[in-house]
Amino acid sequence: MNKKFLAGEQFSSQAYINSQEKYEEMYKESLNDPDGFWGKIAEEFVWSKKWDSVLSEEDFKEGKVKWFEGGELNITVNCLDRHLEDKGDKVAYIWEANNPPLEDLEGAGRAEGAEGAGRAEGAEGTEGQGSVVRFTYKQAYEQVCKYGNFLRDFGVKKGDRVCFYVPMVPEAIFLLLACARIGAIHNVIFGGYSGNSIQERVEDCKARFVITANEGLRGEKKIPLKKTVDEALSEGCDSVEKVLVIRGTDSKTEMQEGRDVWLDEVVKSEYEGVCEPEVMKAEDPLFILYTSGSTGKPKGVLHTCGGYMVYAATTLKYAFDVKDDDIFWCTADIGWVTGHSYIIYGPLLSGTTSVIFEGVLTYPDAGRSWDMVERHKVSIFYTAPTLIRVLQKAGDDFPNGKDLSSLRLLGSVGEPINPDPWLWYYRAIGKEQCPIVDTYWQTETGGFVIMPFPAAYPIKPGSAGRPFFGIEPILLDNEGKEISENGVNGRLMIKRSWPGMMRGVYGDSSKFKEKYFSHFPGYYETGDGGRRDEDGDFWISGRIDDVLTVAGHRLGTAEIENALVSHEAVAEAAVVGVPDEVKGEAIYAYVVLSGLHESNGLYGSEDELKDYVAEEIGHVAKPSVVRIVSGLPKTRSGKIMRRILKKIARGESESLGDMSALANPEVLEELV
Ligand code: WT7
Repeated sequence: MNKKFLAGEQFSSQAYINSQEKYEEMYKESLNDPDGFWGKIAEEFVWSKKWDSVLSEEDFKEGKVKWFEGGELNITVNCLDRHLEDKGDKVAYIWEANNPPLEDLEGAGRAEGAEGAGRAEGAEGTEGQGSVVRFTYKQAYEQVCKYGNFLRDFGVKKGDRVCFYVPMVPEAIFLLLACARIGAIHNVIFGGYSGNSIQERVEDCKARFVITANEGLRGEKKIPLKKTVDEALSEGCDSVEKVLVIRGTDSKTEMQEGRDVWLDEVVKSEYEGVCEPEVMKAEDPLFILYTSGSTGKPKGVLHTCGGYMVYAATTLKYAFDVKDDDIFWCTADIGWVTGHSYIIYGPLLSGTTSVIFEGVLTYPDAGRSWDMVERHKVSIFYTAPTLIRVLQKAGDDFPNGKDLSSLRLLGSVGEPINPDPWLWYYRAIGKEQCPIVDTYWQTETGGFVIMPFPAAYPIKPGSAGRPFFGIEPILLDNEGKEISENGVNGRLMIKRSWPGMMRGVYGDSSKFKEKYFSHFPGYYETGDGGRRDEDGDFWISGRIDDVLTVAGHRLGTAEIENALVSHEAVAEAAVVGVPDEVKGEAIYAYVVLSGLHESNGLYGSEDELKDYVAEEIGHVAKPSVVRIVSGLPKTRSGKIMRRILKKIARGESESLGDMSALANPEVLEELV
């Protein structure tokens, strides 16, 4: 695909980065003088105490860096208080419920009906009603203060870990910000994870508090969040003292006395009024987010206050060219880093109006996104390739009847976007007027790392573009040598620190270095492969470690194998990814049953094992295929030869390659 697209005059004439020279000048400055570059940007924020040094790089090779050392701040002051004077009445959030507004169902024009503050108090359930609720910056500030005052009274202290297992409702977002306000460390666990996964994370970060909702609504499904939390806490999790429950629907839930509390029963008007922000050091923890790696259990990626704030805001501003009158909709869930950086922190730091959606983009039908774009006059729409492919398959009739003229930029994230859906997104949604900004980044990077600047140089379907300011991406060959030629595939590494970079693995001072800096000393290892073309644009090919990207969700093959092996009927398991038209990648598991399974009544059928993985890790990890086999191909030293299994799963058994290491060729006959 050699086609290149340059943004139209309308976009280019007003863009911040409106020429190649401008991009290059800023990029060079960011590398040559990081202190000057980031220091100037940081001045725009409110600090209780200014930093002594912008970047004090202790030892990048060990992953030890400090940004804005000596500086003190509270990120919520920058998200909220800072805007009160100029933007107090500007809408910060437009929240839309799972069910479409009544105006859509009956033409009754009720969309404007609901009161911002009412919903957040949780006084009335909105179940089944369908509503749109707007919160101005002032209302958002008041809610966060109220929750902050309450949480302090509830016993939450600076440095405490608070786990969230929540639906996409305003209460969840304001409570999360309230944690940041009082210096507590939030850790959001995506609602698609199981009780076991919650337990693992709660125990790992020793959370004192869990915040959840009785139920969440996603399309036609009711998600029993509180029930799953109860399961998680039924064993171990001794650190948890209290569970705060948001009323997400009208349904009842069992409340454990002394431990569980309904939010709407405890947050009363007495908590209204100013909540003094906790003064945080720039390098104090802000949040933890668990993410899968190639080995072992998910790691708690730690982000800190100062650098993350500056980076989240700056990436959003320049990559999406955000202006004061934009309406920004990021369709992610706050359970992922995308929700943290580009639903919660980035947009509020920039004083932007953004849309938050409780439900799923395909409910009640595949036109929901386009209804919402029309209804809220969304100007920047940011979603994932897996969803673009689903919506593309649903057909052009859905977008065609809608007024999408408010759109001016389209974003993509989560996996490489193939040229075909790219072009569909460009034509059917953007009407060839909106540049597509494909943002490459990771939980670990805090914000965008590589993305195109469409008003500076032509963009190419399938390419993630060029490095963001301050990012120095390098491709290494397998020997660890830097690749200087263009067009050659390599391992994508980053050669120096940037403000939004993770600062550590929570609770384990050696893991950060071990996982990210040890294979190729001197570089941060992304785990992705890619190449750079003659223009300097990057093409990310995806993970080259044992990590899968399934419908945009990141999962370690080891994690899924461990879950399978924990089933009594399973002796051995090997998991590989296979290409999937919609999900990008699907999970394919080979399982060897333990000899005793039938006689002991421990029979593991393929379906049973699929469900078992969903129960153990969460439905996001449910394999598409479980194949029971009598043996796995291994090397003489007993290592499973995944390369062969991958080929077989992909139907490429004619080209299995070098088999000299294979110790048990007899298994191949059965597999192929
Ligand atoms: C992994 C990170 C960053 C928020 C969502 C995922 C893949 C992400 C792209 C993209 C190609 C991408 C990479 C990366 N990835 N965005 N635009 N093009 N690949 O965050 O769960 O930490 O996953 O997602 O493989 O390493 P995450």
